[in-house]
Amino acid sequence: MLVNVVSKKFDIPDYHTLEVALKNNAYSSIPKLFTMKPEEVTQEVVNSGLRGKGGGGAACGPKWQLMPKDDPRPAYLIVNGDESEPGTFKDRQIFQYDPHLLIEGIICSCYAINAHDAYIYIRGEYKFFSDRVENAIQEALEAGIIGDKVMGHDYRVNIAVHRGAGAYICGEKSALIESLEGKRGHPRLKPHGKECEWFFDNPATVNNVETIATVPFIVENGYEAYTAYGTKTSPGTMLFAMSGPVKNPGVYELAFGNKMIDFLNEVGGGMKDGKKLKAIIPGGSSCPILTAEEVQEAVLDYESMWDIGSTLGTGGMIVIDEDTSMVDVAKNLIEFYHHESCGQCTPCREGCGWIDNILSKILAGDGSQKDLETILDVCSTMNGKTVCVFAPAVKDIIQSIVKKFPHEFVAHFKNQN
Ligand SMILES: Cc1cc2nc3c(=O)[nH]c(=O)nc-3n(C[C@H](O)[C@H](O)[C@H](O)COP(=O)(O)O)c2cc1C
Repeated sequence: MLVNVVSKKFDIPDYHTLEVALKNNAYSSIPKLFTMKPEEVTQEVVNSGLRGKGGGGAACGPKWQLMPKDDPRPAYLIVNGDESEPGTFKDRQIFQYDPHLLIEGIICSCYAINAHDAYIYIRGEYKFFSDRVENAIQEALEAGIIGDKVMGHDYRVNIAVHRGAGAYICGEKSALIESLEGKRGHPRLKPHGKECEWFFDNPATVNNVETIATVPFIVENGYEAYTAYGTKTSPGTMLFAMSGPVKNPGVYELAFGNKMIDFLNEVGGGMKDGKKLKAIIPGGSSCPILTAEEVQEAVLDYESMWDIGSTLGTGGMIVIDEDTSMVDVAKNLIEFYHHESCGQCTPCREGCGWIDNILSKILAGDGSQKDLETILDVCSTMNGKTVCVFAPAVKDIIQSIVKKFPHEFVAHFKNQN
């Protein structure tokens, strides 16, 4: 079941050092890259069907094609390594075990979109990982792999690491750019039509770490090698994280299209201590929850997950066993979102706070059926009315828990009115 596109070299000891990486064929896509025109590289990525791994699953190639042509302003690549959502911990595997693959991906992607400068935005808490990436960048610079002439080719690429200050909202691409520009990390209003991002009024593309780390494989092996994995509409592979009471939690690369239950049992080793599965939050904590029955049917690709009313998100599966209270799960998550809401939009700022308060009341035994109705009502005010999708995502997870496990909330009511 496991495949090796991005994770191929994770297990090679000391592979994060340039010396070991070069002995094991790192940067092998670069000679071919420079035999291609930038638009040919982009077309290859379009044909590969590569979809963004940061949660939204947007097609990567068409996004690159939004970069304006013949614009005199400098273009930028911004790599999103904020990775702050509970249950999502796969980009840090790339930072830790194969930072040179990320640098190789940045070179390929910069060339495709005609950028010479890339920023890697890393979440504030990831000190170990940002040190690792900075060391790799320094090694690559000293070896002439990046800098004025990428591996002797007449193309400049420079990379800078920017550590966030630990705000989940700074993973949202426009809040990330605001933060990178030195401002408060508030998401920007989105334009009506499709266009690129803007960094200090210069054209920019924001992509997730794993998305960028997948590009060298496509450049080197051609798009068909990538579409050989996965399904027709969700081609390729993804790093799926599995956490919770399973025997083998961790990060595993799979092709899209595998059954979730097979992943849990065959790779995750099944539930720990003979416990029964109660539910799985499939793709990082903001995707609608699946009951144990729904998990039996769930297939790990974008369309299949939409078909059963959830989303694939970042592929970070949170497994929940029979002993865990769903009220506690909801409370734990809402405390996170309440704390992390940037406060810019009223439905998000107030909605997260109200749900948090009501769940405290229910856990204290003072709740009633009316409170459950109020939670669902508050959820309905959080959808589609905010600058970014933080609030709709909170609504998705909370509403799904309340609707699928109402009896667990009711069990806390002393007064049933
Ligand atoms: C609240 C919020 C947090 C997000 N956090 C991240 C993150 O940590 N990492 C990430 O790559 N994308 C994150 N995203 C998605 C980004 O806005 C963006 O879609 C993504 O970085 C684009 O890259 P991709 O197309 O390669 O996935 C977040 C979105 C929202 C609304």
